[in-house]
Amino acid sequence: MTSADMTDDATARRFRDSLIRQMTDDRYLSPKWRPAFERVPRHWFMPRLFLFTGGDRYTPLGSRADRDKWLSHVYDSDMCVTQLNGDDTAWDTAIAQGSVRGLPTCSSTEPGLMAWMLDDLGVTAGHRVLEIGTGTGYNAAILCEHLGAASITSIDVDAALVAEARTRLAGLGHCPLLVAGDGRDGYPGNAPYDRIIATCSLPRVPAAWIEQLRPGGQMIMNVSGLLGGAMLLLRKNDSGDGAQGRFTKRWAGFLPARGAPGVADITPRDTEDGRYDTGMTTLAPDVLNTPAFAFLAWLATQDARLYWADLDDGRRLTCLIGLDGSWCEIYPDDGGKRQVDQGGPRRLWHLTEQAHTFWAEHQHPDWSHFGVSMQGDDQRVWLEHPAQPTPWQLPREGQTR
Ligand SMILES: C[S@@+](CC[C@H](N)C(=O)[O-])C[C@H]1O[C@@H](n2cnc3c(N)ncnc32)[C@H](O)[C@@H]1O
Repeated sequence: MTSADMTDDATARRFRDSLIRQMTDDRYLSPKWRPAFERVPRHWFMPRLFLFTGGDRYTPLGSRADRDKWLSHVYDSDMCVTQLNGDDTAWDTAIAQGSVRGLPTCSSTEPGLMAWMLDDLGVTAGHRVLEIGTGTGYNAAILCEHLGAASITSIDVDAALVAEARTRLAGLGHCPLLVAGDGRDGYPGNAPYDRIIATCSLPRVPAAWIEQLRPGGQMIMNVSGLLGGAMLLLRKNDSGDGAQGRFTKRWAGFLPARGAPGVADITPRDTEDGRYDTGMTTLAPDVLNTPAFAFLAWLATQDARLYWADLDDGRRLTCLIGLDGSWCEIYPDDGGKRQVDQGGPRRLWHLTEQAHTFWAEHQHPDWSHFGVSMQGDDQRVWLEHPAQPTPWQLPREGQTR
């Protein structure tokens, strides 16, 4: 290690030991992964952090400013935001102004979550692993410690992050294959892989990942949209054709993969004849705050996102809008019923109501009761068992009109 603040001295090790004790007590860290987490200094991978201060504001915390404060955040059980807005200018602004507004584009995953993902994935000596989302390089370092760098390939869409991770990993003596590119395509150059781990989320499993897994190989990823999602553990069929798996009981969410269309690309649309539908609903939009139901609302409405709008009279509307311009607005409760206006090619609130009927009829299951079977282009979601298909497929990545 180079500068004094990055040294793995007794102070840094004391912070690390405390994190490892907590991860063990919380049953996130198994004896199998403990040595790798003990050996890899997390602080080496994140000399610069952004601390969330509310709204979309962050303050900078560097390794040199207040080393103990910085180490206490690095070795906290939480995730650490390490990049905003996809470049380094946010850091310079935050240092100059004391804080900055932004959207996280890279973070180091919660260590406990990293540990259980690796455990659930069944990563074992001799495995070749592809990681999607190199980020800081910390997870890649844990994998290198456990399996040896020759078994690890890691890809990130951000070439600057890849370059920095390469330097940091090399500083610890690890030289895995790091690639700059869109992780949706995986990396065929080192396939087949025994395991694939994704640390950014997508609404659907990229076909390339299943192609690049060996038969019987497994992958874990956060499948999610803007309303909900969960962690999916999939196994490629021994025949080499298709894959199957379940959503894990433990819930987690990841930063969305970059490269998808954003809200700025959406134009609300009316129905074909230039009008919109008005009706009434008994379903309270608050139900979207229930994580178990939000998972199904996401499957039913696919790329829809939630927002709120205030009327002139002070009343607040709950609204959904999809990338194809479909929208709905739900008015406040009026004696147990609410007005709903809907426009565009899909009736988003009708789809939400249908999902709610399904959810109620099946005793309000959470995501862990669902699984996915992949065959060709099909990514069919089932309840409890593949023989019990739901009406839903995993959503295709959004396309604006
Ligand atoms: C949660 S961070 C990764 C954490 C990382 N594994 C670590 O240990 O620091 C998510 C990463 O996914 C990357 N990412 C986002 N979209 C991507 C894409 N389309 N392809 C590959 N990587 C992507 C981001 O640049 C970011 O570095």
